[in-house]
Amino acid sequence: MPQKRMKAVIPAAGLGTRFLPATKALPKEMLPVVDKPAIQYVVEEAALAGIHDILIIIGRNKNALANHFDSVPELEDKLKHKGDHGRLKRVVESSDLADIHFVRQGEPKGLGHAVLRARAHVGDAPFAVLLGDDLIDERDPLLTTMIDEHEARGATIIALMEVDPEQIHMYGAAAVEPTDDADVVKVTGLVEKPSKEDAPSNLAVIGRYVLTPQVFDILERTEPGKGGEIQLTDALQELATSDGDGGGVYGVVFRGRRYDTGDRVDYIKAIVQLAADREDLGPELRPWFKEFAATL
Ligand code: G1P
Repeated sequence: MPQKRMKAVIPAAGLGTRFLPATKALPKEMLPVVDKPAIQYVVEEAALAGIHDILIIIGRNKNALANHFDSVPELEDKLKHKGDHGRLKRVVESSDLADIHFVRQGEPKGLGHAVLRARAHVGDAPFAVLLGDDLIDERDPLLTTMIDEHEARGATIIALMEVDPEQIHMYGAAAVEPTDDADVVKVTGLVEKPSKEDAPSNLAVIGRYVLTPQVFDILERTEPGKGGEIQLTDALQELATSDGDGGGVYGVVFRGRRYDTGDRVDYIKAIVQLAADREDLGPELRPWFKEFAATL
């Protein structure tokens, strides 16, 4: 199965300034969402889609990330000794998910630059990119759908989601044309973080991509764009509008559950939603949420 061989890239080199001081010594990807670091959800999502080779692009503070996905024999022995199989399983799970590699970004020159750092590891093959600020509910298998679309069309596939036009300035926005599939659109243009007036639609790029390797050549020559950074969106805009051999760009329109952990309010909402949904925590939390809401 070709999808078994696809590699995934997770950029995790951001400074996490919105979460200071929590992110002073800890990468923001390690902040817990209920009881797992945010990045573990993303690695689990890739593993569920059949991807077992993952490259994490890191900035400073690499150690916590590397340690998290490594085994901790002394902790495992202790839990084994105590007969605490539940916790043991949870500890072992995070180190058994995938073959995880790391590369440093060096300078924080933007998402496009981070993705380009994956070139040597990925080689001349399609690959997935997952951004850690977007968590996709495991009951809504977006990445698997995207890989299937990629295999059917031989094209670059991005995930799109309708957002309130007031929010489009926080995302890449897509100009699209319909296809014969209601959930798939042809992407004819992309703009990074446009104003509401300049946005070609309210279809926002959410952080999942299945890219063809042609993107690397384009990224090599992509000039800094919005915010002075090398933008992945700008490289994809070129891929969407050029007649080269990249196969074009299509968007899978996602209508499932997505949790944003990018800023503090969304992060808190994500924790509340995910905890309320959990079988082990939900029954105790849900009535309390109601009681608490009534006091507001
Ligand atoms: C990045 C991308 C943007 C995309 C967003 C999704 O922006 O540049 O196109 O819409 O992720 O989360 P960031 O949020 O990292 O600034």
